[in-house]
Amino acid sequence: MAEPTAAANLTPDAAAHPNSAALYDRARRVLPGGNTRTTVFVAPHPLYAREGHGARVTDVDGTTRIDFVNNYTALIHGHGHAATAAAVADQLARGTCFAMPTEAEVALAELLCQRLPAAERIRFTNSGTEAVMMAVKAARAYTGRPKIAKCEGAYHGSYDYVEPSLAPAPAEWGEPDPTPVAYAKGTPQAVLDDVVVLPFNDAAAAERILTPQARDLAAIIIDPMPFRVGLIPAAPAFLEFVRAFARNHGILLILDEVISFRLGYHGAQGELGVAPDLTTLGKIIGGGLPVGAVAGRAEVMAVFDPSAGKAALPHGGTFNANPLTMAAGRATMEAMTEAAYDHINALGAQARAALAEAFAAAGVPGQVSGRGSLFRVHFHDRPLTGYRAAYAQPEERARLARFYWGLIQRGVMISTDGLGAISTPMGGSEIEALAEAALGALRA
Ligand SMILES: Cc1ncc(COP(=O)(O)O)c(C=O)c1O
Repeated sequence: MAEPTAAANLTPDAAAHPNSAALYDRARRVLPGGNTRTTVFVAPHPLYAREGHGARVTDVDGTTRIDFVNNYTALIHGHGHAATAAAVADQLARGTCFAMPTEAEVALAELLCQRLPAAERIRFTNSGTEAVMMAVKAARAYTGRPKIAKCEGAYHGSYDYVEPSLAPAPAEWGEPDPTPVAYAKGTPQAVLDDVVVLPFNDAAAAERILTPQARDLAAIIIDPMPFRVGLIPAAPAFLEFVRAFARNHGILLILDEVISFRLGYHGAQGELGVAPDLTTLGKIIGGGLPVGAVAGRAEVMAVFDPSAGKAALPHGGTFNANPLTMAAGRATMEAMTEAAYDHINALGAQARAALAEAFAAAGVPGQVSGRGSLFRVHFHDRPLTGYRAAYAQPEERARLARFYWGLIQRGVMISTDGLGAISTPMGGSEIEALAEAALGALRA
């Protein structure tokens, strides 16, 4: 995911959040459904944020909670990271954006190319969605082919060509192989015709599906730990297969590291030992400001080189590489030392173990997946093999909704879909608080 559908039919104690309820009333008069970002919609109304400091966020009713959402994994240092705030303030005093490049862009590009094994060149965008869109367009420009392959259940943002089969219901699952299913209302059939859907971590099925399409495929896009597929890492054999298949058939491998870049100093590609042709980034690299990036081999990234004139793939964007984001991203990433990754990854392991213990102690069927600084709770104990196994049944969804509000009442916030992300200001006490709140919520 982690940015897909709204969580509906949850049951908060509405009277406990009068200021949020009032703001939502106002919002509904000017925003459709009171909302600009589907992901953060919660029925009957969301809690509105007033401020955040470190690992904690305070809502407009004055309640402070430990924030394990961290804006869907983007805030790796939590809220108000001092060095990032100072870098932003310094840049703010000197201007927010120019129709000229800045040194801040070059500096963040250098840092990211140095850390990301497969990145020789990089371009910045304003969101992960745009990064994915530009990576797909680059792959088409480079190969001269129209189609892309993606995994069933994998979220890559809201670009039409990566949305199909994001959330198919069981009745829509093809047998045995997935067929592309429209996610957004109004998706043209022409889009579905150019998308090939693979089951995650199933190399044999992927080979069967990809082989007849190989000559038309520009790219295979893989999230190495897709949230909706269960937040399970890509199996080495699956990654090896897609890497080799792509290379053998002149297809580009795009690794979507918009979330997974937080798994280690060299991203998930460093952890898993895979060398994609293109990588998409977002979230943490903007230090809390809007960002995305597409990076990759110099030869492929050359499709963007504007000195080629009309031969180049155009990529404008009024706020691309704006110096505020670049400064925030650099300060944030400089503070992400190897030791900082070790810290959040160790806490992630503790959080997963503590949540699993809470399920066992409460006698509630459930499990916890994830890796590094990320976790996801599931209200079933089916082996997590892919999207279909992870697909939550209505009763499981209802339990997750009750769990979400149970944690909210106990001072802890995870996402409505069960995702949690560790931030650097957290320590053992935050994990203990999570475990205690989880046990209380599960027992209740
Ligand atoms: C794997 C992945 N790719 C792409 C995106 C889209 O990023 P953005 O929300 O910045 O458009 C997301 C967002 O959650 C994501 O998780």
